[in-house]
Amino acid sequence: MEFGSRRTYTTMPSKLRSSRLLLISLLLLLFYSTTLLRRPTTPNILSPPPCDLFSGRWVYTPETPKPLYDETCPFHRNAWNCLKNKRENMEVINSWRWVPDGCGLSRIDPTRFLGRMRNKNIGFVGDSLNENLVVSLLCILRVADPSAVKWKKKKAWRGAYFPKFNVTVAYHRSVLLAKYNREANEDGVKGAYRVDVDVPADEWINVTSFYHVLIFNSGHWWGYDKFPKETPLVFYRKGKPIHPPLDIIQGFEVVLQHMVSYIQRQVPAKTLKFWRLQSPRHFYGGDWNQNGSCLLDKPLAKDQLDLWFDPRNNGVNKEARRINQIIKSELQNTESEIKLLDLTHLSEYRADAHPAIWLGKQDAVAIWGQDCMHWCLPGVPDTWVDILAELILSNSKTE
Ligand SMILES: *[C@@H]1O[C@H](CO)[C@@H](O)[C@H](O)[C@H]1NC(C)=O
Ligand SMILES: *[C@@H]1O[C@H](CO)[C@@H](O)[C@H](O)[C@H]1NC(C)=O
Ligand SMILES: *[C@@H]1O[C@H](CO)[C@@H](O)[C@H](O)[C@H]1NC(C)=O
Repeated sequence: MEFGSRRTYTTMPSKLRSSRLLLISLLLLLFYSTTLLRRPTTPNILSPPPCDLFSGRWVYTPETPKPLYDETCPFHRNAWNCLKNKRENMEVINSWRWVPDGCGLSRIDPTRFLGRMRNKNIGFVGDSLNENLVVSLLCILRVADPSAVKWKKKKAWRGAYFPKFNVTVAYHRSVLLAKYNREANEDGVKGAYRVDVDVPADEWINVTSFYHVLIFNSGHWWGYDKFPKETPLVFYRKGKPIHPPLDIIQGFEVVLQHMVSYIQRQVPAKTLKFWRLQSPRHFYGGDWNQNGSCLLDKPLAKDQLDLWFDPRNNGVNKEARRINQIIKSELQNTESEIKLLDLTHLSEYRADAHPAIWLGKQDAVAIWGQDCMHWCLPGVPDTWVDILAELILSNSKTE
């Protein structure tokens, strides 16, 4: 930068006090300050990652290309197949584009992605919010290999094999990550759930070496909705009940410690590991069992997010940030090894993109309430896929 001439003018002897000179120096100042301001922003706009893909904003872009798949994808789960279920507003939902601050996020190129993943396998372990992400990924990758077939080996709950690339992508359902079983009381009536905090669930304990990339999550089941006080979780370590007994959140912390330590010990170091943070819910006007709804026609504004999600405001959707805090503190010392996939903030905006009342089944809403928790497909999880694909590729060595 050249500051010399500006300095010369502003330090001119005041005796001269010529108004023309003053005008010239002001113009020069203006010139320099605008060039200075312009400089840093232009080159960054399209610079590739690494950059923070998790912070940014949604921009309404109707001219954005259509989603890569539709309701005919064979890997759909019915309740999330919003095109088939004739959800209103699907075109609008898919016209919003996530624009990270300071860099571009391009849509996944399924052929390039599968090409880079040739002879590799990608595994997901966790609850249905991880499954929501997998379904999107399967439908997107199928564009590059229509011969993809369902794959459910090795205790996978859902998955596909892509023969053209010899790639397997699968989801292992394990909502608490740790092993748990319902116990029978002495009278044979089913009662509490025993959770072995130090034992990974059967669904994934012996399969991690098959995968080259693993994405874990857990969080949505750690509440009294799923495990009411009459049939609580009871925590065991080394086969013995933990004393004094842990409440559900303390149990979550202890399970996380053990699962993270298991992953660090047992999963090969060369495996690329991610931990995906919570997917926020958007129940408005009441919780899921109190007629809470999400019939919104556009994303939330930035200044509405704290009102919805900050635990201090005690709204019905506060748990996502609270649970994220616990996960982040358990993972903070492993960050180099297990990468955080922080999809929470970008998803917080999208109150408009859940299946809501379009669940594809009669009476589903009357029985279960609206679904303001999972996401329509195509929809927001396709953006999760773009981000995940970017991170997988930028963290994989080219061979
Ligand atoms: C397919 O990939 C697996 C690794 O995931 C590898 O062991 C196997 O040899 C590959 N098969 C072919 C035909 O390349
Ligand atoms: C996992 O592998 C170990 C060691 O081979 C074996 O003892 C155990 O039964 C296996 N567990 C499951 C659930 O397959
Ligand atoms: C939910 O709505 C139904 C029908 O409008 C009503 O009968 C019921 O009392 C409501 N439930 C709650 C918890 O507000």
